[in-house]
Amino acid sequence: DPATLTQHIQAAKAQLGSKLLLLAHHYQKDEIVAQADFVGDSLQLAQLAAKNHQADYIVFCGVHFMAETADMLTAADQQVILPDLNAGCSMADMANMYQVTAAWQAIQARYPDEVMPVTYVNSSAAVKAFVGEHGGVIVTSGNAEKVLQWAFTQKQRLFFLPDQHLGRNTAYQLGVPLEQMVLWDPTQGQFKGQADQATRIILWEGWCAVHQQFNVAQIKALRVQDPAIKIIVHPECAYEVVQAADVVGSTHKIMTTVQQSPQATHWAVGTDHNLVQRMQATLPQKIDFINPIACACMTMNRIKLPHLAWCLDQLVAGQVPNQIKVDPETTEKSLSALQRMLMLS
Ligand code: 13P
Ligand code: SF4
Repeated sequence: DPATLTQHIQAAKAQLGSKLLLLAHHYQKDEIVAQADFVGDSLQLAQLAAKNHQADYIVFCGVHFMAETADMLTAADQQVILPDLNAGCSMADMANMYQVTAAWQAIQARYPDEVMPVTYVNSSAAVKAFVGEHGGVIVTSGNAEKVLQWAFTQKQRLFFLPDQHLGRNTAYQLGVPLEQMVLWDPTQGQFKGQADQATRIILWEGWCAVHQQFNVAQIKALRVQDPAIKIIVHPECAYEVVQAADVVGSTHKIMTTVQQSPQATHWAVGTDHNLVQRMQATLPQKIDFINPIACACMTMNRIKLPHLAWCLDQLVAGQVPNQIKVDPETTEKSLSALQRMLMLS
């Protein structure tokens, strides 16, 4: 039962002491968040992994690409553990290296030496290495604006993958009109629309299954019910949804904006269910979901108390379970793009 498992986890944590760092993303279940040493968004967790040189074991309660990123940013003798190896990200899976190589060839043929590849951190280590190798940079939702602004000073055009929405929303915020954006269809291996000299950004046609469930009709209905309501959404939401909202921001920005607003404010929040539910339970503001049907990241939800208890047990017994280890060559190639991102953040 949860109480016994929690006690068990706490005893293992006490035994492991400073050898262990337990990180959790804000989308994790409450039961996991309650056990974490630090809870954050993907940028904060990457920054933390890069800074921590003490812990031997970093148990990462999040999804696979986050654990890979942490492994690349930590020292070679630190070990990163993902409590459930099935906790992936369907958006990151939308860009494989076969498709990325084909896209890059077509882009280079159209725009020789004029394009910088940029990947959202929600991508495999192999994609990050590709981007690093080609002089590109990585972004998270927390720093996309800053990083893209810099990238546009370096090259005339950007190739942004895998989330079309984060790419489109951020480029638009930076003043790029929609007509100067073109989609790349990875399954057909072709541009979807006009890729001409005016094009500033090529967007990989990927998306997040959770954030794509919010729509403008839901926002309009909420505004009819309460004209004073404030709508805040994650930049993985569609362009129309972001335009219809009052505020757009990463997980961290969503939390701080709501936290710092007057207590009487009524918010509707467009992001993962676990986070919105936790905000509802812990903040004085009135908080609603944008979509009345739970929009939950299924893979973030895979990690539960038994997985965590099992991992910590193994560590206490001197075994390292579910280690996420990126090979040295991929790490080296990715690091230039990751370090550039951290410097710009
Ligand atoms: P954050 O960068 O806001 O943590 O978001 C990560 C993510 O996967 C959102 O779906
Ligand atoms: Fe991936 Fe979407 Fe889940 Fe974030 S919420 S981890 S982008 S599937």
